[in-house]
Amino acid sequence: MDSHRLGAALPRVIGWLNRTNARHPWSHNDRLHRWIARRLPDRRRSVLDVGCGQGLLAWRLSHRFGRVLAIDVDAPQVAATAARCADRPNVTARVASFAEVDGTFDGITMVAVLHHLDLEDALPRIRRLLAPGGRLFVIGLARSETRIDLAWDLLSSVTNPLIGVILHPRPVRDPPSGDPFPTKDPDVTLSELRAAFARHLPGARFRRRLGFRHTIEWTAPAR
Ligand SMILES: C[S@@+](CC[C@H](N)C(=O)[O-])C[C@H]1O[C@@H](n2cnc3c(N)ncnc32)[C@H](O)[C@@H]1O
Repeated sequence: MDSHRLGAALPRVIGWLNRTNARHPWSHNDRLHRWIARRLPDRRRSVLDVGCGQGLLAWRLSHRFGRVLAIDVDAPQVAATAARCADRPNVTARVASFAEVDGTFDGITMVAVLHHLDLEDALPRIRRLLAPGGRLFVIGLARSETRIDLAWDLLSSVTNPLIGVILHPRPVRDPPSGDPFPTKDPDVTLSELRAAFARHLPGARFRRRLGFRHTIEWTAPAR
C-alpha cells in the first residue's frame, strides 16, 4: 500500500478501533488486581488503598488484610467505596489526601493514582508509612516520550479491542460515557519515575503492561 492510500485508510482504522473499544469496554486497572493479590506481604494486619475510586480493590483487599483504610480526595468516590464495602466491617473509607495520612501499614496500593501525586512528597511518605517487610503496589500511567514508549502505546492500541472482545464478547448497548472517577493525564515519564524511585525507594521493580499501564512493586527493608 502506498503512503497516500495508507493515509486515507488510517482514519477508518482508528474509527473502527474506537467503536470496538466503546462496545467492548474493559478496565485497564481492575484487570491487574490479580497481580497485586499474588504478591501480598506475609504480615497482613493493615493496608492503605490510596485513591480508592469506586472501591473494588478495597473490597477485595478486605478479604486478605485485617484492616483496610481506603482514602480518596473526592467525596463521591469515598461514598461509593463505603457503599460497596458496607458488608465489610474491617474497611474504613475516608475523604483524605495521601499527604495527610499517618500510621503504619503492611501494604500500600495505588491504582492509577501515583501520577496525581507530587512524587517528591509521596515517595518518602510511602517509605515512612510502610512497616518493615511491607509492600507497595503501583499500577501506573506515564507520559510517553521514547520510541519504546510509543511502541508499547501502539501495541496497547491494537490489543485493546482484542482484549475487550475476549473479556466481554457481548457488545454493550449503551457504552458508559467517561470514567466514574476523576482522571488526569500523566506528565511524568517512565524514565523520570525510575529516577525518582531510585532516589527514594531503591530496588523497586518496574514492568511495562498492555493497556497503557506499568506496574511497580517495592518492599520496605527491615529497619
Ligand atoms: C484514575 S482514578 C483511579 C481510581 C481507582 N484507584 C481505580 O483504579 O479505579 C484516581 C483517583 O485518585 C484520587 N486522588 C487524586 N489525588 C489524590 C490524593 N492526593 N490523595 C488521594 N486520592 C487522590 C482521585 O480522586 C481519583 O478517584
